[in-house]
Amino acid sequence: MAVMDKGSEAELLEAARAARSHAYAPYSHFAVGAAVRTGSGRVFTGVNVENAAYPAGICAERVAAAAAIAAGERELVTCAVVGPNGKPCPPCGICRQFLAEFNEQMTLLLEDGEGGMIRRTLSDLLPGSFGSSHLQ
Ligand code: THU
Repeated sequence: MAVMDKGSEAELLEAARAARSHAYAPYSHFAVGAAVRTGSGRVFTGVNVENAAYPAGICAERVAAAAAIAAGERELVTCAVVGPNGKPCPPCGICRQFLAEFNEQMTLLLEDGEGGMIRRTLSDLLPGSFGSSHLQ
C-alpha cells in the first residue's frame, strides 16, 4: 500500500479544491470537489453532478471513485473532499458505503474550516458496514 506523507495529503486536498471549480451544481449551488489517490499513486478527481430530476444527481466522491475504477484501479487509499468556504464536507451515507466497497480503512481528508485538515478513517464513519462477506 502506498504511504503518503503530509505533503502529498495537502496535494490531494488541493486537487479536490481545484476540481471543485468544475462542479455542476445549479440547484443546490453547493459545489464539491473530490480527489482519490490509488495504491499505485494515481489521482482521480470528481465533482458533484446535479440533475433537474434531483435524485439523479451524484456526489463528487462517487464520481472520483468511479473514475479510478474505470481506469482499472482497485485500491483506493485516500479520498479528499472539499466543499464551499473551507468548511468540512463529510461524505454522505451513500458515498461512505460506495467507498467502503474498495477500502474500509480508506483515509478521508477534509478541510477543517480554519485552513487546516481533518483526517478520518472511513470505518470510523461507517461502523459495521454491509460488505461482500455478508452476501455469502
Ligand atoms: N455533495 C457531494 O458531492 N459530496 C458530499 O460529501 C456532500 C454533498 C453534493 C450533493 C449535492 O449535489 C450537493 O452536494 C448538496 O447536497
